[in-house]
Amino acid sequence: MTVPSTTPAAPTPSHSLPRLLRSLRSHRRAWIALLAAGLAVALAAQSTKISEPSYAAAERGERNDGRGRGLSDEEGWGEFPPLPPLEDRRRLWPPELDDPICSSKIFVYDLPPSLRLPEETVSQCRWSAYNSELLLHKLLVEPPTASPIPLDHPHYTLFTSNPREADFFFIPLFPACYLFDCWVKAGWTKTERCAVDSSYIQPVMQHIRGAHPFWNASGGADHLLVHPMDYVDGYYTSPSRAAMNASTYLVTVGDVRPAPYGQHFRSAQDIVVPSSTHILNSYYVNPLDWLDGEGHPLAHPRGTQHPDRHVDVLPTYTEIFNSSPNPPLRGVLPPLRAFLRRAVGLSPTPLTRKNRTTLAIFRGGVGTPTDGESYALKIRSLFFPSDGNSSAPPFSSTPHRGFSSLPSFDIALSSPSNQDYATRLSRSRFGLAPPGYTLDTTRLYEYLAFGVVPVFIGTGPRAGQVLPFAKDVDWEGMSVFVPRERAHEVPKILGEIGEEDYERMRRKVWEEGRKVVLEGREGNVWKLIARELCRRKRIGLAPGAEIANN
Ligand SMILES: *[C@@H]1O[C@H](CO)[C@@H](O)[C@H](O)[C@H]1NC(C)=O
Ligand SMILES: *[C@@H]1O[C@H](CO)[C@@H](O)[C@H](O)[C@H]1NC(C)=O
Ligand SMILES: *[C@@H]1O[C@H](CO)[C@@H](O)[C@H](O)[C@H]1NC(C)=O
Repeated sequence: MTVPSTTPAAPTPSHSLPRLLRSLRSHRRAWIALLAAGLAVALAAQSTKISEPSYAAAERGERNDGRGRGLSDEEGWGEFPPLPPLEDRRRLWPPELDDPICSSKIFVYDLPPSLRLPEETVSQCRWSAYNSELLLHKLLVEPPTASPIPLDHPHYTLFTSNPREADFFFIPLFPACYLFDCWVKAGWTKTERCAVDSSYIQPVMQHIRGAHPFWNASGGADHLLVHPMDYVDGYYTSPSRAAMNASTYLVTVGDVRPAPYGQHFRSAQDIVVPSSTHILNSYYVNPLDWLDGEGHPLAHPRGTQHPDRHVDVLPTYTEIFNSSPNPPLRGVLPPLRAFLRRAVGLSPTPLTRKNRTTLAIFRGGVGTPTDGESYALKIRSLFFPSDGNSSAPPFSSTPHRGFSSLPSFDIALSSPSNQDYATRLSRSRFGLAPPGYTLDTTRLYEYLAFGVVPVFIGTGPRAGQVLPFAKDVDWEGMSVFVPRERAHEVPKILGEIGEEDYERMRRKVWEEGRKVVLEGREGNVWKLIARELCRRKRIGLAPGAEIANN
């Protein structure tokens, strides 16, 4: 839902009365005509039994509980039949995401070993937020490990090892991964490049052009490259960019604000994809260990989520939506309790539903003293208490107590552990998604994975952000958009959202939003990318008989 930029202001009586009197004096004839018209309307209303007060009540009823309970049958407003479902569901938007637009094929180049990143660099990358490069590649080329084998997994439906039958070509070039490794080694000196252009990007692109005919055949137009960092290909030299930029980029930041802010996003050419996130894609924290099949929180998290999970987990795949087995019970008391429960016919680990009790969650910082409005459009200055010193965190020039002081808000700079964050996400209704240095935020995908309704503040489509797969995903139906000028009203706005509206959005997040998260079991992200690609080549979109006969 979109919150309008301004609240309509009610005229104050003290001003409107004198104005009315003045108006009566100066426009006497108009007022007489208006009075006559009013009388006629009143008479007509009388004869059809439509009375103004009950209309207002009905409207109020509709606004308050979203169902219009204020309507009375007497008015006859409830006597119309609901429309039957359409025979062809595809007439309606948003589409069923499991119903592809076309069946296209993507060939993935196999680079010679000398042009591949060393294994050491790749495994380091798993801990970067730019991991999506690797995951997108893996999802295509590796068969899923899930059982039963999902036959509509993109590895089976999209990937091809035969370039002759391919519609698109994926280049396994991972420059963000290269730079991440470079920056780790350079102690996070982000101006360091470690010769990424001359020793990696250019040799790979030369190989793609020289060793295969496919790039030249389309001038690169049907080739795909992943650029998951804030400035897309802006980290590389101009010859590197020129070698790559005829292709479609899969990017994580979609921003159509005029330069310099949105200058790296080529809106007609690039496809916005989700980012990977630490908790989901590096630590493989599994939402289904905290939530039941409907996305409701479990009283006791299930599974094997040991704090050291990142050390012992197999770093091989992205299975985040398979719940873990229950851990073995240790000690004397738990097995005894389990025995007693079994004896009285209860399941060994009763999982009871608990409502989401936190209204809104946020974990994240407020920037640095030199950032000014370049960080979060200053929106985060409202999140933490401020004494009005704009040089000290949270950099607000007005004293206030911060959203973090509200008992139903769970706001902090960070969480002590992934388990803590996951538990809190699973208990939260809304998740705040203000901008950071860019409009996008990786939190969004954590919210979607944990069934938390995203609240875009100063971000989202009306703020110039292009959300992933906006042609297929109903973001409006599963999130709240608050314009920047109403950021201070976020607590009130969220507090006033009715239970029914919340539940509708929550269910949509759980059923549809989760498909926009990088995961390996279903590989939905590639199914969504494929829809965009079908549109690129207009495959499966040709006019059919119905349109031709019009
Ligand atoms: C593609 O074109 C470039 C020149 O633009 C050329 O160097 C290269 O050999 C061509 N590739 C193939 C496979 O012919
Ligand atoms: C590609 O990059 C080169 C070098 O920066 C630039 O001159 C050219 O205009 C770019 N082309 C496109 C299509 O972005
Ligand atoms: C405001 O905060 C800055 C940075 O913490 C500090 O140096 C300065 O003394 C503060 N000013 C006032 C008036 O407290």
